This record gives sequence, structure tokens and C-alpha cells, in this order.
Amino acid sequence: MIPVARPIIGEKEKNAVQEVMASGMLAAGARVKEFEERFAEKVGTTQAIATSSGTTALQALMFGLGLGPGDRVLTTPFTFIATTNTILNTGARPVFADIEPRTFNLDPDQAEVILARDSSIKAILVVHLYGLPCQMADFEQLTEKYGVDLIEDAAQAHGAAFAEKPVGSFGRAGMFSFYPTKNMTTGEGGMVVTSDDVLARKIRLFINHGASERYNHKQLGFNFRMTEMAGAMGLCQLERLDEFVAIRRSNAEFYDQRLAPIPEVETPHIPPQCFHSYNLYTLRCQKRDQLQSYLREKEIGTGTHYPRALHQQPYYQEMGFGDYSLPYAEKAGEEVLSIPIHPGLAPGDLEKIRDSINSFYEARR
Ligand SMILES: Cc1ncc(COP(=O)(O)O)c(C=O)c1O
Repeated sequence: MIPVARPIIGEKEKNAVQEVMASGMLAAGARVKEFEERFAEKVGTTQAIATSSGTTALQALMFGLGLGPGDRVLTTPFTFIATTNTILNTGARPVFADIEPRTFNLDPDQAEVILARDSSIKAILVVHLYGLPCQMADFEQLTEKYGVDLIEDAAQAHGAAFAEKPVGSFGRAGMFSFYPTKNMTTGEGGMVVTSDDVLARKIRLFINHGASERYNHKQLGFNFRMTEMAGAMGLCQLERLDEFVAIRRSNAEFYDQRLAPIPEVETPHIPPQCFHSYNLYTLRCQKRDQLQSYLREKEIGTGTHYPRALHQQPYYQEMGFGDYSLPYAEKAGEEVLSIPIHPGLAPGDLEKIRDSINSFYEARR
């Protein structure tokens, strides 16, 4: 089976983790600190705060911004549910605007319609879905015009940039995930990035039960800290991030050229100024479910990111989001299919995947 995602773990990572285990210092120490410093450098922020997952990074960020009951955060309905669960967990509520059908990202024009009529919105949370940057110039203008915060969910977008500026460095703060399917991994792990030193301090306290030193608790918090093993692994993976992204981009180029002629398939649309880091290569395609089963029979793993927009999720319907009508997000849920793009693909895999997609449609015309 060709998996839809696979982490690349080398000898360097294994040795680095073993060294930590041999040292006996397994929790928040020198490796995590160094990983934070290197990651901030890479993204171009003054601060980075390592956490136990992308979800905990986003959660700490939401609390750090002081969100709570009565507040609203404008975001996309077409993303992983952590994006909005972390808003709900503070007592605030997400407000959804529809996506741009060609990029699957939040549409700035749709966002403005809502901003113009809802003054309780405190922040816009953009999600650089699949590794494709959102229209950051437009979102920067909107946040300025309406006096709201800009936050970036870059969980899927390590190495992506808009106008040559790394994602994660645009808003007041951003976050990344290091889950094993991402462009770099620490097993589980996450990172908040910001150049707002006051916000960074609050988040550091929040992930450590409000303590700046042991048993001196200044605010409420959690234990959302990253382990030293994860920090050691993250340092090694960060060194290889550019190489990983380059392979993903070269695989994407292969698909772009070879799949574009198939009329039943739409390859990713990349607007000007966007440097896509291809965490996922996601097609819009006809007969999606049948194609997915066919590829499974051919031992090709795929994914649907995502089969349902968030307002269609059962729990969100119960929470009163069922009244939304977001046609582009709803349609995308029926048509998207992610095919393998990761750097671990073997020679011949790309050709096999292309040929299989081709033969599926040829037999059905
Ligand atoms: C867009 C988005 N946001 C947030 C997260 C949460 O990250 P994690 O799985 O590391 O908790 C993910 C992870 O898949 C994601 O894709």
C-alpha cells in the first residue's frame, strides 16, 4: 500500500532521542528551548513556544488572546475541527464565512461581509489549508480596517510563504502542528509563534499551570509542555524541512503536469505570491468516492480533507451551527481527494498513481 502520508525519521532523529533518554532529562529542557529558538528564526518571529500538540498550541493561543464568552472569531468552515474546538473551549464562538472554491481557503470577500455587520468579532483565524497560504495582503487590510486580531492556523503549512514571507509571521500570532502526517514531525507536538512578547509570556505561563518558576502560580493554566524527546526530534526535522518541502513541490509539479489533462479532475490552484508547501496534494474530482475505492483496490492510500464542513458536524449542529448555508465548503466536502505527495514515495509511485487515476476515468467515459 502506498500510504497517503508517512513521516521520514532518520538515524539523526533516532540518535538524538536516544541521547535524551540516556541523559534522564526527559521534560522541558535544553532541546525544547533550542527548538523554540530555531523555529522562531525560521518563521521570522521573536518568540516560539513549544507545546504537546497543535491543538494545545492553538488552545494556549486562544486563552492567551483572552477570548471568552461573548467573543466571536471569524474563520473557515473547511478545516480540521481543532481550529474551532479550541475557540469553543474558551466559551467564545466561531463565525463561519465561506471558502474560495478554487483554493479551498477562507474567502476575504465573504469574511468582509460578516465583519461589516458583526462588531462582536475579535479576531480572524485564517487556516493555510493543505500548505497553501491564504490571501494575507487582503486579510491584513481587513484586520486593520475592522480593528480585529489576525491569527494563523499554519498547522499544515511549515515552509509555506506569502509574498516571500513565511506563514505564521503575519498575524498577531500563529501556530504549527508536528503530528506525523505534517511536513515535519515530533510524534505529537505543536508550536505557537508570535512577535508579541507580552502575549508570548502569557502563553508560556498558560502551558505551565501559570508558573514562571516552580510552585509559584500566577494564573490558571494547564500542562501543555513539549517533551525533550520531541524537542530533540524537532531540531533534526527542522534541519530537513526545506529538503522535505522541495521534494513535495517537485512531486506536485509531476501531478500538475500529468493530471491537468484529465477533464474530471481539477489540480490545485495556486494564486500569485503563494509558495505552497504541499502538506497535502488535494484534487477536486468527479465520482470522488468511487475513485477513492478504486485507488484503494490498487493499493494507493488517499484521504478526504475534509468529508464535511464543520457546521455540518453532528456536534456543531447540536450547538446551533446548523442554520449556516456555505455552499462552496459543503460542495468541497463531496469532491476533495488527497493523493500521496510525501517525500517517502518510492520510484514509480507517482507514475502508478497517475496511471490509476487515468484508467479509472477512461473506463467510465
Ligand atoms: C488545520 C489544523 N489545525 C489544527 C490541527 C491540530 O493539530 P494536532 O493534530 O497536532 O493537535 C491540525 C492537525 O491535524 C490541523 O490540520
